[in-house]
Amino acid sequence: MAAAGFFNRFMALRTATFVLCFVSMLAELQRIDHSVNSDSLRFLVVGDWGRKGEYNQSKVALQMGRIGEEVEPDFIISTGDNFYENGLTGVDDPAFEESFSNIYTAKSLQKPWFNVLGNHDYRGDVEAQLNPILRMIDHRWLCMRSFIINAEIAEIFFVDTTPFVDKYFTHPGSHTYDWSGILPSREKYLSNLLKDLDLALKESKSKWKIVVGHHTLRSAGHHGDTKELVKELLPILKANEVDLYINGHDHLVQHISSLDSELQYFTSGGGSKAWRGDYDLNKEGLKFFYDGQGFMTVEMTTTDAELIFYDVFGNVLYKWSTSKQAYKAI
Ligand SMILES: *[C@@H]1O[C@H](CO)[C@@H](O)[C@H](O)[C@H]1NC(C)=O
Repeated sequence: MAAAGFFNRFMALRTATFVLCFVSMLAELQRIDHSVNSDSLRFLVVGDWGRKGEYNQSKVALQMGRIGEEVEPDFIISTGDNFYENGLTGVDDPAFEESFSNIYTAKSLQKPWFNVLGNHDYRGDVEAQLNPILRMIDHRWLCMRSFIINAEIAEIFFVDTTPFVDKYFTHPGSHTYDWSGILPSREKYLSNLLKDLDLALKESKSKWKIVVGHHTLRSAGHHGDTKELVKELLPILKANEVDLYINGHDHLVQHISSLDSELQYFTSGGGSKAWRGDYDLNKEGLKFFYDGQGFMTVEMTTTDAELIFYDVFGNVLYKWSTSKQAYKAI
């Protein structure tokens, strides 16, 4: 039994490695091809989740599995804060299985999981979450600091947002952050990342450009806007006509529209513990806000996109759709 188990894990790792063939590599950004053999791309988005099933993480997971059966997602995106309170202690931390493998067990969720790091993940051993060894425990897992998934219909740019936020460096309080790989040259790390992102966005041939990060750009929730990202990241997204910015960090689901561009902001941070009653409903551009648990589905073709928020019971909270013309009328 043990040998068979190891063999399966080994084969899973080989398969995962095969799928992840890196086609290009910028200083901070790897581009990974993930072709979708269909004329639509479908994925689920969940954030701020790893609590060993508690705070309704298991209930949200159950509904993701149920809705996933209808949606048949190509993959799942995690917007970070994968393991509370302090990330993983190492690659052998049982929290990896207790909060991930043993929770998202539904058949429909046995797809690649593309994960970014949140600020809580930076309080643990960051390298552990990035270590491909984790794919021997659960072949679905893929976490890198910043990377690109080229799914043809859409290109998805995952950005490591935690190192942008000054207060984690200047006022860490009682928390310790693992800045290996970031310090001592934080400025260089951030400027390389932004330069690579700008270049990769300019090169992108996809109809839809989606950027995913943990921190908010715009939020009516407790954390509000992340000023460092508004200053440094947002101009690049606008200049390159990014369609969607998807994040977590605030434990809720919300949609905010831009007033001066096509960019739409979606927060999916309701994977477990929710904060209720801490928000600003006068937020400019706010279209939808729900301060409870939930997750999001995204379905897109080359011309149309539909995003749906679900709550902890699997009820639809909100639907938003948009379309792009296939051909410009002459
Ligand atoms: C979990 O969800 C139930 C609804 O199923 C809700 O009544 C309860 O407050 C939630 N618990 C937590 C800890 O959020």
